[in-house]
Amino acid sequence: MKEIKYNEHAKEVLEILQKGAFLTTHADGKTNTMTIGWGYLGYSWRKPVFGVMVRHNRYTHNLLDKNGQFTVTLPQEDLSKELAFCGAKSGLQTDKIKACGFSLLSAQTVDVPLIACRGFQYECKVLCKMEMQRPLVEEIVRETWYEKMPDDYHTFYFGEITACYVTE
Ligand SMILES: Cc1cc2nc3c(=O)[nH]c(=O)nc-3n(C[C@H](O)[C@H](O)[C@H](O)COP(=O)(O)O)c2cc1C
Repeated sequence: MKEIKYNEHAKEVLEILQKGAFLTTHADGKTNTMTIGWGYLGYSWRKPVFGVMVRHNRYTHNLLDKNGQFTVTLPQEDLSKELAFCGAKSGLQTDKIKACGFSLLSAQTVDVPLIACRGFQYECKVLCKMEMQRPLVEEIVRETWYEKMPDDYHTFYFGEITACYVTE
């Protein structure tokens, strides 16, 4: 395990994110992970921040609202099958960690584990949560992404990056 600066590998991190990363949450004694493809690495409130977008109907939304902490694992190895699985099944019905045979790593600063793999690891504590509001969304975005599910907008969760490192 090697500590990194939050923005040291930003280009690679954002490229991996577009292909898929694991957003892991933990509450009520349950750990769940879901695939994300959108997100933000930035700096706000004088803190390094990772932003994720989670639709209301995700089980992850429920867990994040109970425990405002999350981890993001960006794999540098081929976990495409696992990413597809965790992006299609809900943790409400399926123990995805078990089904994928994932080992978990304990985090240093949050009460949420990380997926053990070769890749970049971020530990985050939610600083700000923002609900998307229909009137504030441009038509092009609304029609492309929300027309089929008009009541299922994303919530943005901006998490302070409290630790980040690379695992082998
Ligand atoms: C490549 C990929 C990227 C995805 N990105 C997101 C995302 O950024 N936000 C989101 O809410 N859902 C996203 N999804 C869908 C969720 O991963 C999917 O609905 C998942 O089953 C939710 O799991 P949960 O109910 O256990 O939280 C993505 C799916 C895939 C395959």
